[in-house]
Amino acid sequence: MAGETNDSWLVRHEFLLRRLHSLSGLIPVGAFMIVHLLTNSSVQNGPGAFQKNVYLIHSLDALLPLVEWVFIFIPIFFHGIFGIVIIAGGLPNTSSYPNASNIRYVLQRVTGVLAFLFIVWHVFHMHGWIHADWWIDGVAKNLGGAQFKPYNAASTAGLALQSFVVIVAYVVGVLACVFHLANGIWTMGITWGAWTSPAAQRRANAVCTVFGVGLAVIGLAALQGMWAQGRGEALEEAIRIEDQQYNAAVQAGILKPNEEKRAQPSEAEPGREASVDQASARSPR
Ligand code: HEM
Ligand code: HEM
Repeated sequence: MAGETNDSWLVRHEFLLRRLHSLSGLIPVGAFMIVHLLTNSSVQNGPGAFQKNVYLIHSLDALLPLVEWVFIFIPIFFHGIFGIVIIAGGLPNTSSYPNASNIRYVLQRVTGVLAFLFIVWHVFHMHGWIHADWWIDGVAKNLGGAQFKPYNAASTAGLALQSFVVIVAYVVGVLACVFHLANGIWTMGITWGAWTSPAAQRRANAVCTVFGVGLAVIGLAALQGMWAQGRGEALEEAIRIEDQQYNAAVQAGILKPNEEKRAQPSEAEPGREASVDQASARSPR
């Protein structure tokens, strides 16, 4: 209708938008986070186990950016930006906590904001946001970003986690995201009418608490395991294993050589060979 404001468009489509926001929190964003934390925690079985999982993801090759955008980035942008609109009061405040404490209502919003800040920074810290050389080498690396190299997965992620401030930011970020998902699943059950009676809500509450505590343990185990691979002898051993896996995969013809996805010698152990040709020339250990 002529003369309508954006607000009224939001309000007119509120039901559909809220349902899409609610759904996107679980599928695909929540599902991605669960798989992501489980994959990261595989580092507890050693750098080789984590590297195998990263190769599996990167075997999507040219399809990877499409899959990332469709199933990860666009849903997170939608859920995050619409979540900020809700928090900022862009929609009437119809709380989905009829029988529950105000504290959890507030915490869902606080952890939403923390999740937003954490995810934006985390993707910069690991990926650098944009894959253009001028940006990665000229800007992102100078600001502490783009530290993760998929073909030296555990060692570069571990090195990126060595500062105290960074570890604190990850602990806060991971716990905020996990609380937000676990509490969010409980509020979803109310939004969609899955648990309506106080007794059913209490039972669902217990299940969501167990789920949240379990996922928090997995997330913190991932963080500890990754951090441990970034220091001392474990770091040298991780690089050696990752290089061996890379060379074996390239020689078997299942991986295209790609130096950009490997740590540069300056980013890893001094004196480490950078190219597969050099590495394949040395005698097997
Ligand atoms: C990117 C930053 C994020 C922001 C700003 C945000 C914001 C919000 C807000 C404000 C709500 C409450 C909606 C309401 O009660 O009306 C919410 C619900 C929810 N969020 Fe997020 N969120 C973010 C990230 C995440 C992530 C990473 C996940 C999954 C891991 C997630 C999963 C959920 C779920 C499952 C709900 C429950 C939906 C419902 O009550 O129907 N959110 N989010
Ligand atoms: C235990 C703590 C975490 C660690 C060690 C970790 C590690 C990583 C690493 C290494 C990458 C780069 C992956 C690649 O390029 O293959 C990455 C990407 C990403 N992480 Fe995390 N992460 C953690 C927690 C989280 C949490 C809680 C979220 C919230 C949803 C999250 C969201 C993302 C996203 C959206 C990407 C980009 C995905 C992509 O490019 O395909 N991470 N993370």
